[in-house]
Amino acid sequence: MPYPYQIKTYDQYKQAYQKSVEDPEAFWADIAEHFYWRKKPSGKILNWNFKEPKIEWFKGAKLNITENCLDRHLEKNGNTPAIIWEPNDPDEKPRIISYKKLHEHVCRFAHVLKNNGVQKGDRVCIYMGMIPELAIAILACARIGAIHSVVFGGFSAQSISDRLMDAQATFIITCDGAYRGAKDIPLKNVIDDALIGNKTVKRVIVCTRTRIPVSMIKGRDVWWEEEMKRVEEQGLNFIEAEEMDAEDPLFILYTSGSTGKPKGVVHTSGGYMVYTNYSFVNVFQYQPGQVHFCTADIGWITGHSYIVYGPLSAGATSLMFEGVPTWPDAGRFWNIIDKFKVNILYTAPTAIRSLMGFGTAPLDRKDLSSLQILGTVGEPINEEAWHWYDENVGKKHCPIVDTWWQTENGGILISNLAGVTPAKPSYATLPLPGVQPILVDENGKEVEGNNVSGNLCIKFPWPGMLRTTYGDHERCRTNYFATYENLYFTGDGALRDENGFYRITGRVDDVLNVSGHRIGTAEVENAINMHAGVVESAVVGYPHDIKGQGIYAYVIFKGEGIEESLAKKDILQTVTRVIGAIAKPDKIQFVSGLPKTRSGKIMRRILRKIAEGETQNLGDTSTLLDPGVVDEIKKGKI
Ligand code: PRX
Repeated sequence: MPYPYQIKTYDQYKQAYQKSVEDPEAFWADIAEHFYWRKKPSGKILNWNFKEPKIEWFKGAKLNITENCLDRHLEKNGNTPAIIWEPNDPDEKPRIISYKKLHEHVCRFAHVLKNNGVQKGDRVCIYMGMIPELAIAILACARIGAIHSVVFGGFSAQSISDRLMDAQATFIITCDGAYRGAKDIPLKNVIDDALIGNKTVKRVIVCTRTRIPVSMIKGRDVWWEEEMKRVEEQGLNFIEAEEMDAEDPLFILYTSGSTGKPKGVVHTSGGYMVYTNYSFVNVFQYQPGQVHFCTADIGWITGHSYIVYGPLSAGATSLMFEGVPTWPDAGRFWNIIDKFKVNILYTAPTAIRSLMGFGTAPLDRKDLSSLQILGTVGEPINEEAWHWYDENVGKKHCPIVDTWWQTENGGILISNLAGVTPAKPSYATLPLPGVQPILVDENGKEVEGNNVSGNLCIKFPWPGMLRTTYGDHERCRTNYFATYENLYFTGDGALRDENGFYRITGRVDDVLNVSGHRIGTAEVENAINMHAGVVESAVVGYPHDIKGQGIYAYVIFKGEGIEESLAKKDILQTVTRVIGAIAKPDKIQFVSGLPKTRSGKIMRRILRKIAEGETQNLGDTSTLLDPGVVDEIKKGKI
């Protein structure tokens, strides 16, 4: 069997789970045996306390993750496709890159990075579209021990600038532009804006994709292709991988929290590798030769773990798609599945709901018979979408895995294992081996038994968990480990049914989940408040048929003589500038005041209920400074 640690029966799952709880160190040391280490894990496998927090897996062991993702497959599977790339335009030729070729590209680009002065530990910001060079850039950083920080192509110059500063990044890899559906996104222009006033970035490497005009600044900007050509001409097709400690950082990925500033979640080399691989092989029950299609963008954690590191460390064939599900038409996914005989499809409920809106016609005459396993991620999946996916895409013969996890987790924590453990619509079901969930009430008291609900925490470390938030360990502690003593708090609420299956009910903090993207309400408020006419704002989520959650903004606006609809457009433009279009409110309501307690705290609970359409049971409003404001807000609801 190719993956000796692949669980094949429900009983095996139960045994593995039990072992992972009884002796986690022995359990993970056994799994770690199946990787290539320069120096194998030995002695103490795990050091931890959640107080500081301090989490170290396999410390002292040495490896380079790219030797596991590339080199070790070369001898037997060098010609196996590592990446199948489908471009945005269905008429453009796809690219199929074998492990051998990918290894070569990564080695060459690693030389390019070195030639441009990148060293182990340097932070490299990557802002690219979904082209194979993005995966190559990531792996090349890992090859030489540089820490990559990928920023999703939808973020604004301001967001990039904040992230560059926070990570003290000295290098950027970008593209001239990116294609996304009918749009061309001028990535390099955005980077140029982000770099105004920046003093730390020494070099920008620009890869060609859309051929839009870009300004190349002498001494700072270089072309990817020219740099690669030089290396190629010198015959530099190999580079020795940097030896990394298992606990050396591999990457930073920024994610939103309940404060206004995104956090740089830090993942390390050894634990992250073991966990993404283990979860990939088990949740999706991957078999060699299968084509795995994860539709996420590599700018998010799902792309990091289940397009790049998980599949490649398992020698899998990973399909990478540049476009969007609905362009040029709503049959895009189905065409790709048909064209490349995709076996595993991993997507987001928001994509499923949006495709549902087009009915089943786009699926007609598409051969989806290659599909064996379906997955969802990013947000709770409603039963209707689950059944549509099951019936129309999986034709009722593909197990669906509902995978719950977070940027901070590195890999999937709660999910059924495809066809091995039971599925239940809208339930993530059971924890993976090594994952010990617990539900607590607001006081941190464990909620025991079944048919209960509470706040979801994890009580023991797993190898893929975050180690810190970049440059601010205290922030990591207060965000995740201080709410409840000795527990990692996920920020999610969950219920546990009579079988012990978990259903994730959504965030219990001020974080929204819009189309599977995490956005902090405080972040959006900060952006809205930057508009000159805005006095104050409050942002809440409300149920949205396609996006899962929509953004509802209550705004006190004092612009003189400006038409309301124009003022709202200005606010949207401000949010787009400050964060990016993904954070634009769906609804903006101008109000004369916000419901506040006497101590000045905004009563978001009331605003949330009004946004949800509730007018009667708003709870206790007697503590409000000015209860009258609630009636006004109710009347003006959009
Ligand atoms: O609320 C949960 C939701 O997405 C959040 C994590 O967002 P992010 O870090 O951006 O990572 C998304 C992709 C891993 C969680 O706190 N979430 C994720 N997966 C599910 C989910 N909610 C319900 N069911 C899921 N399967």
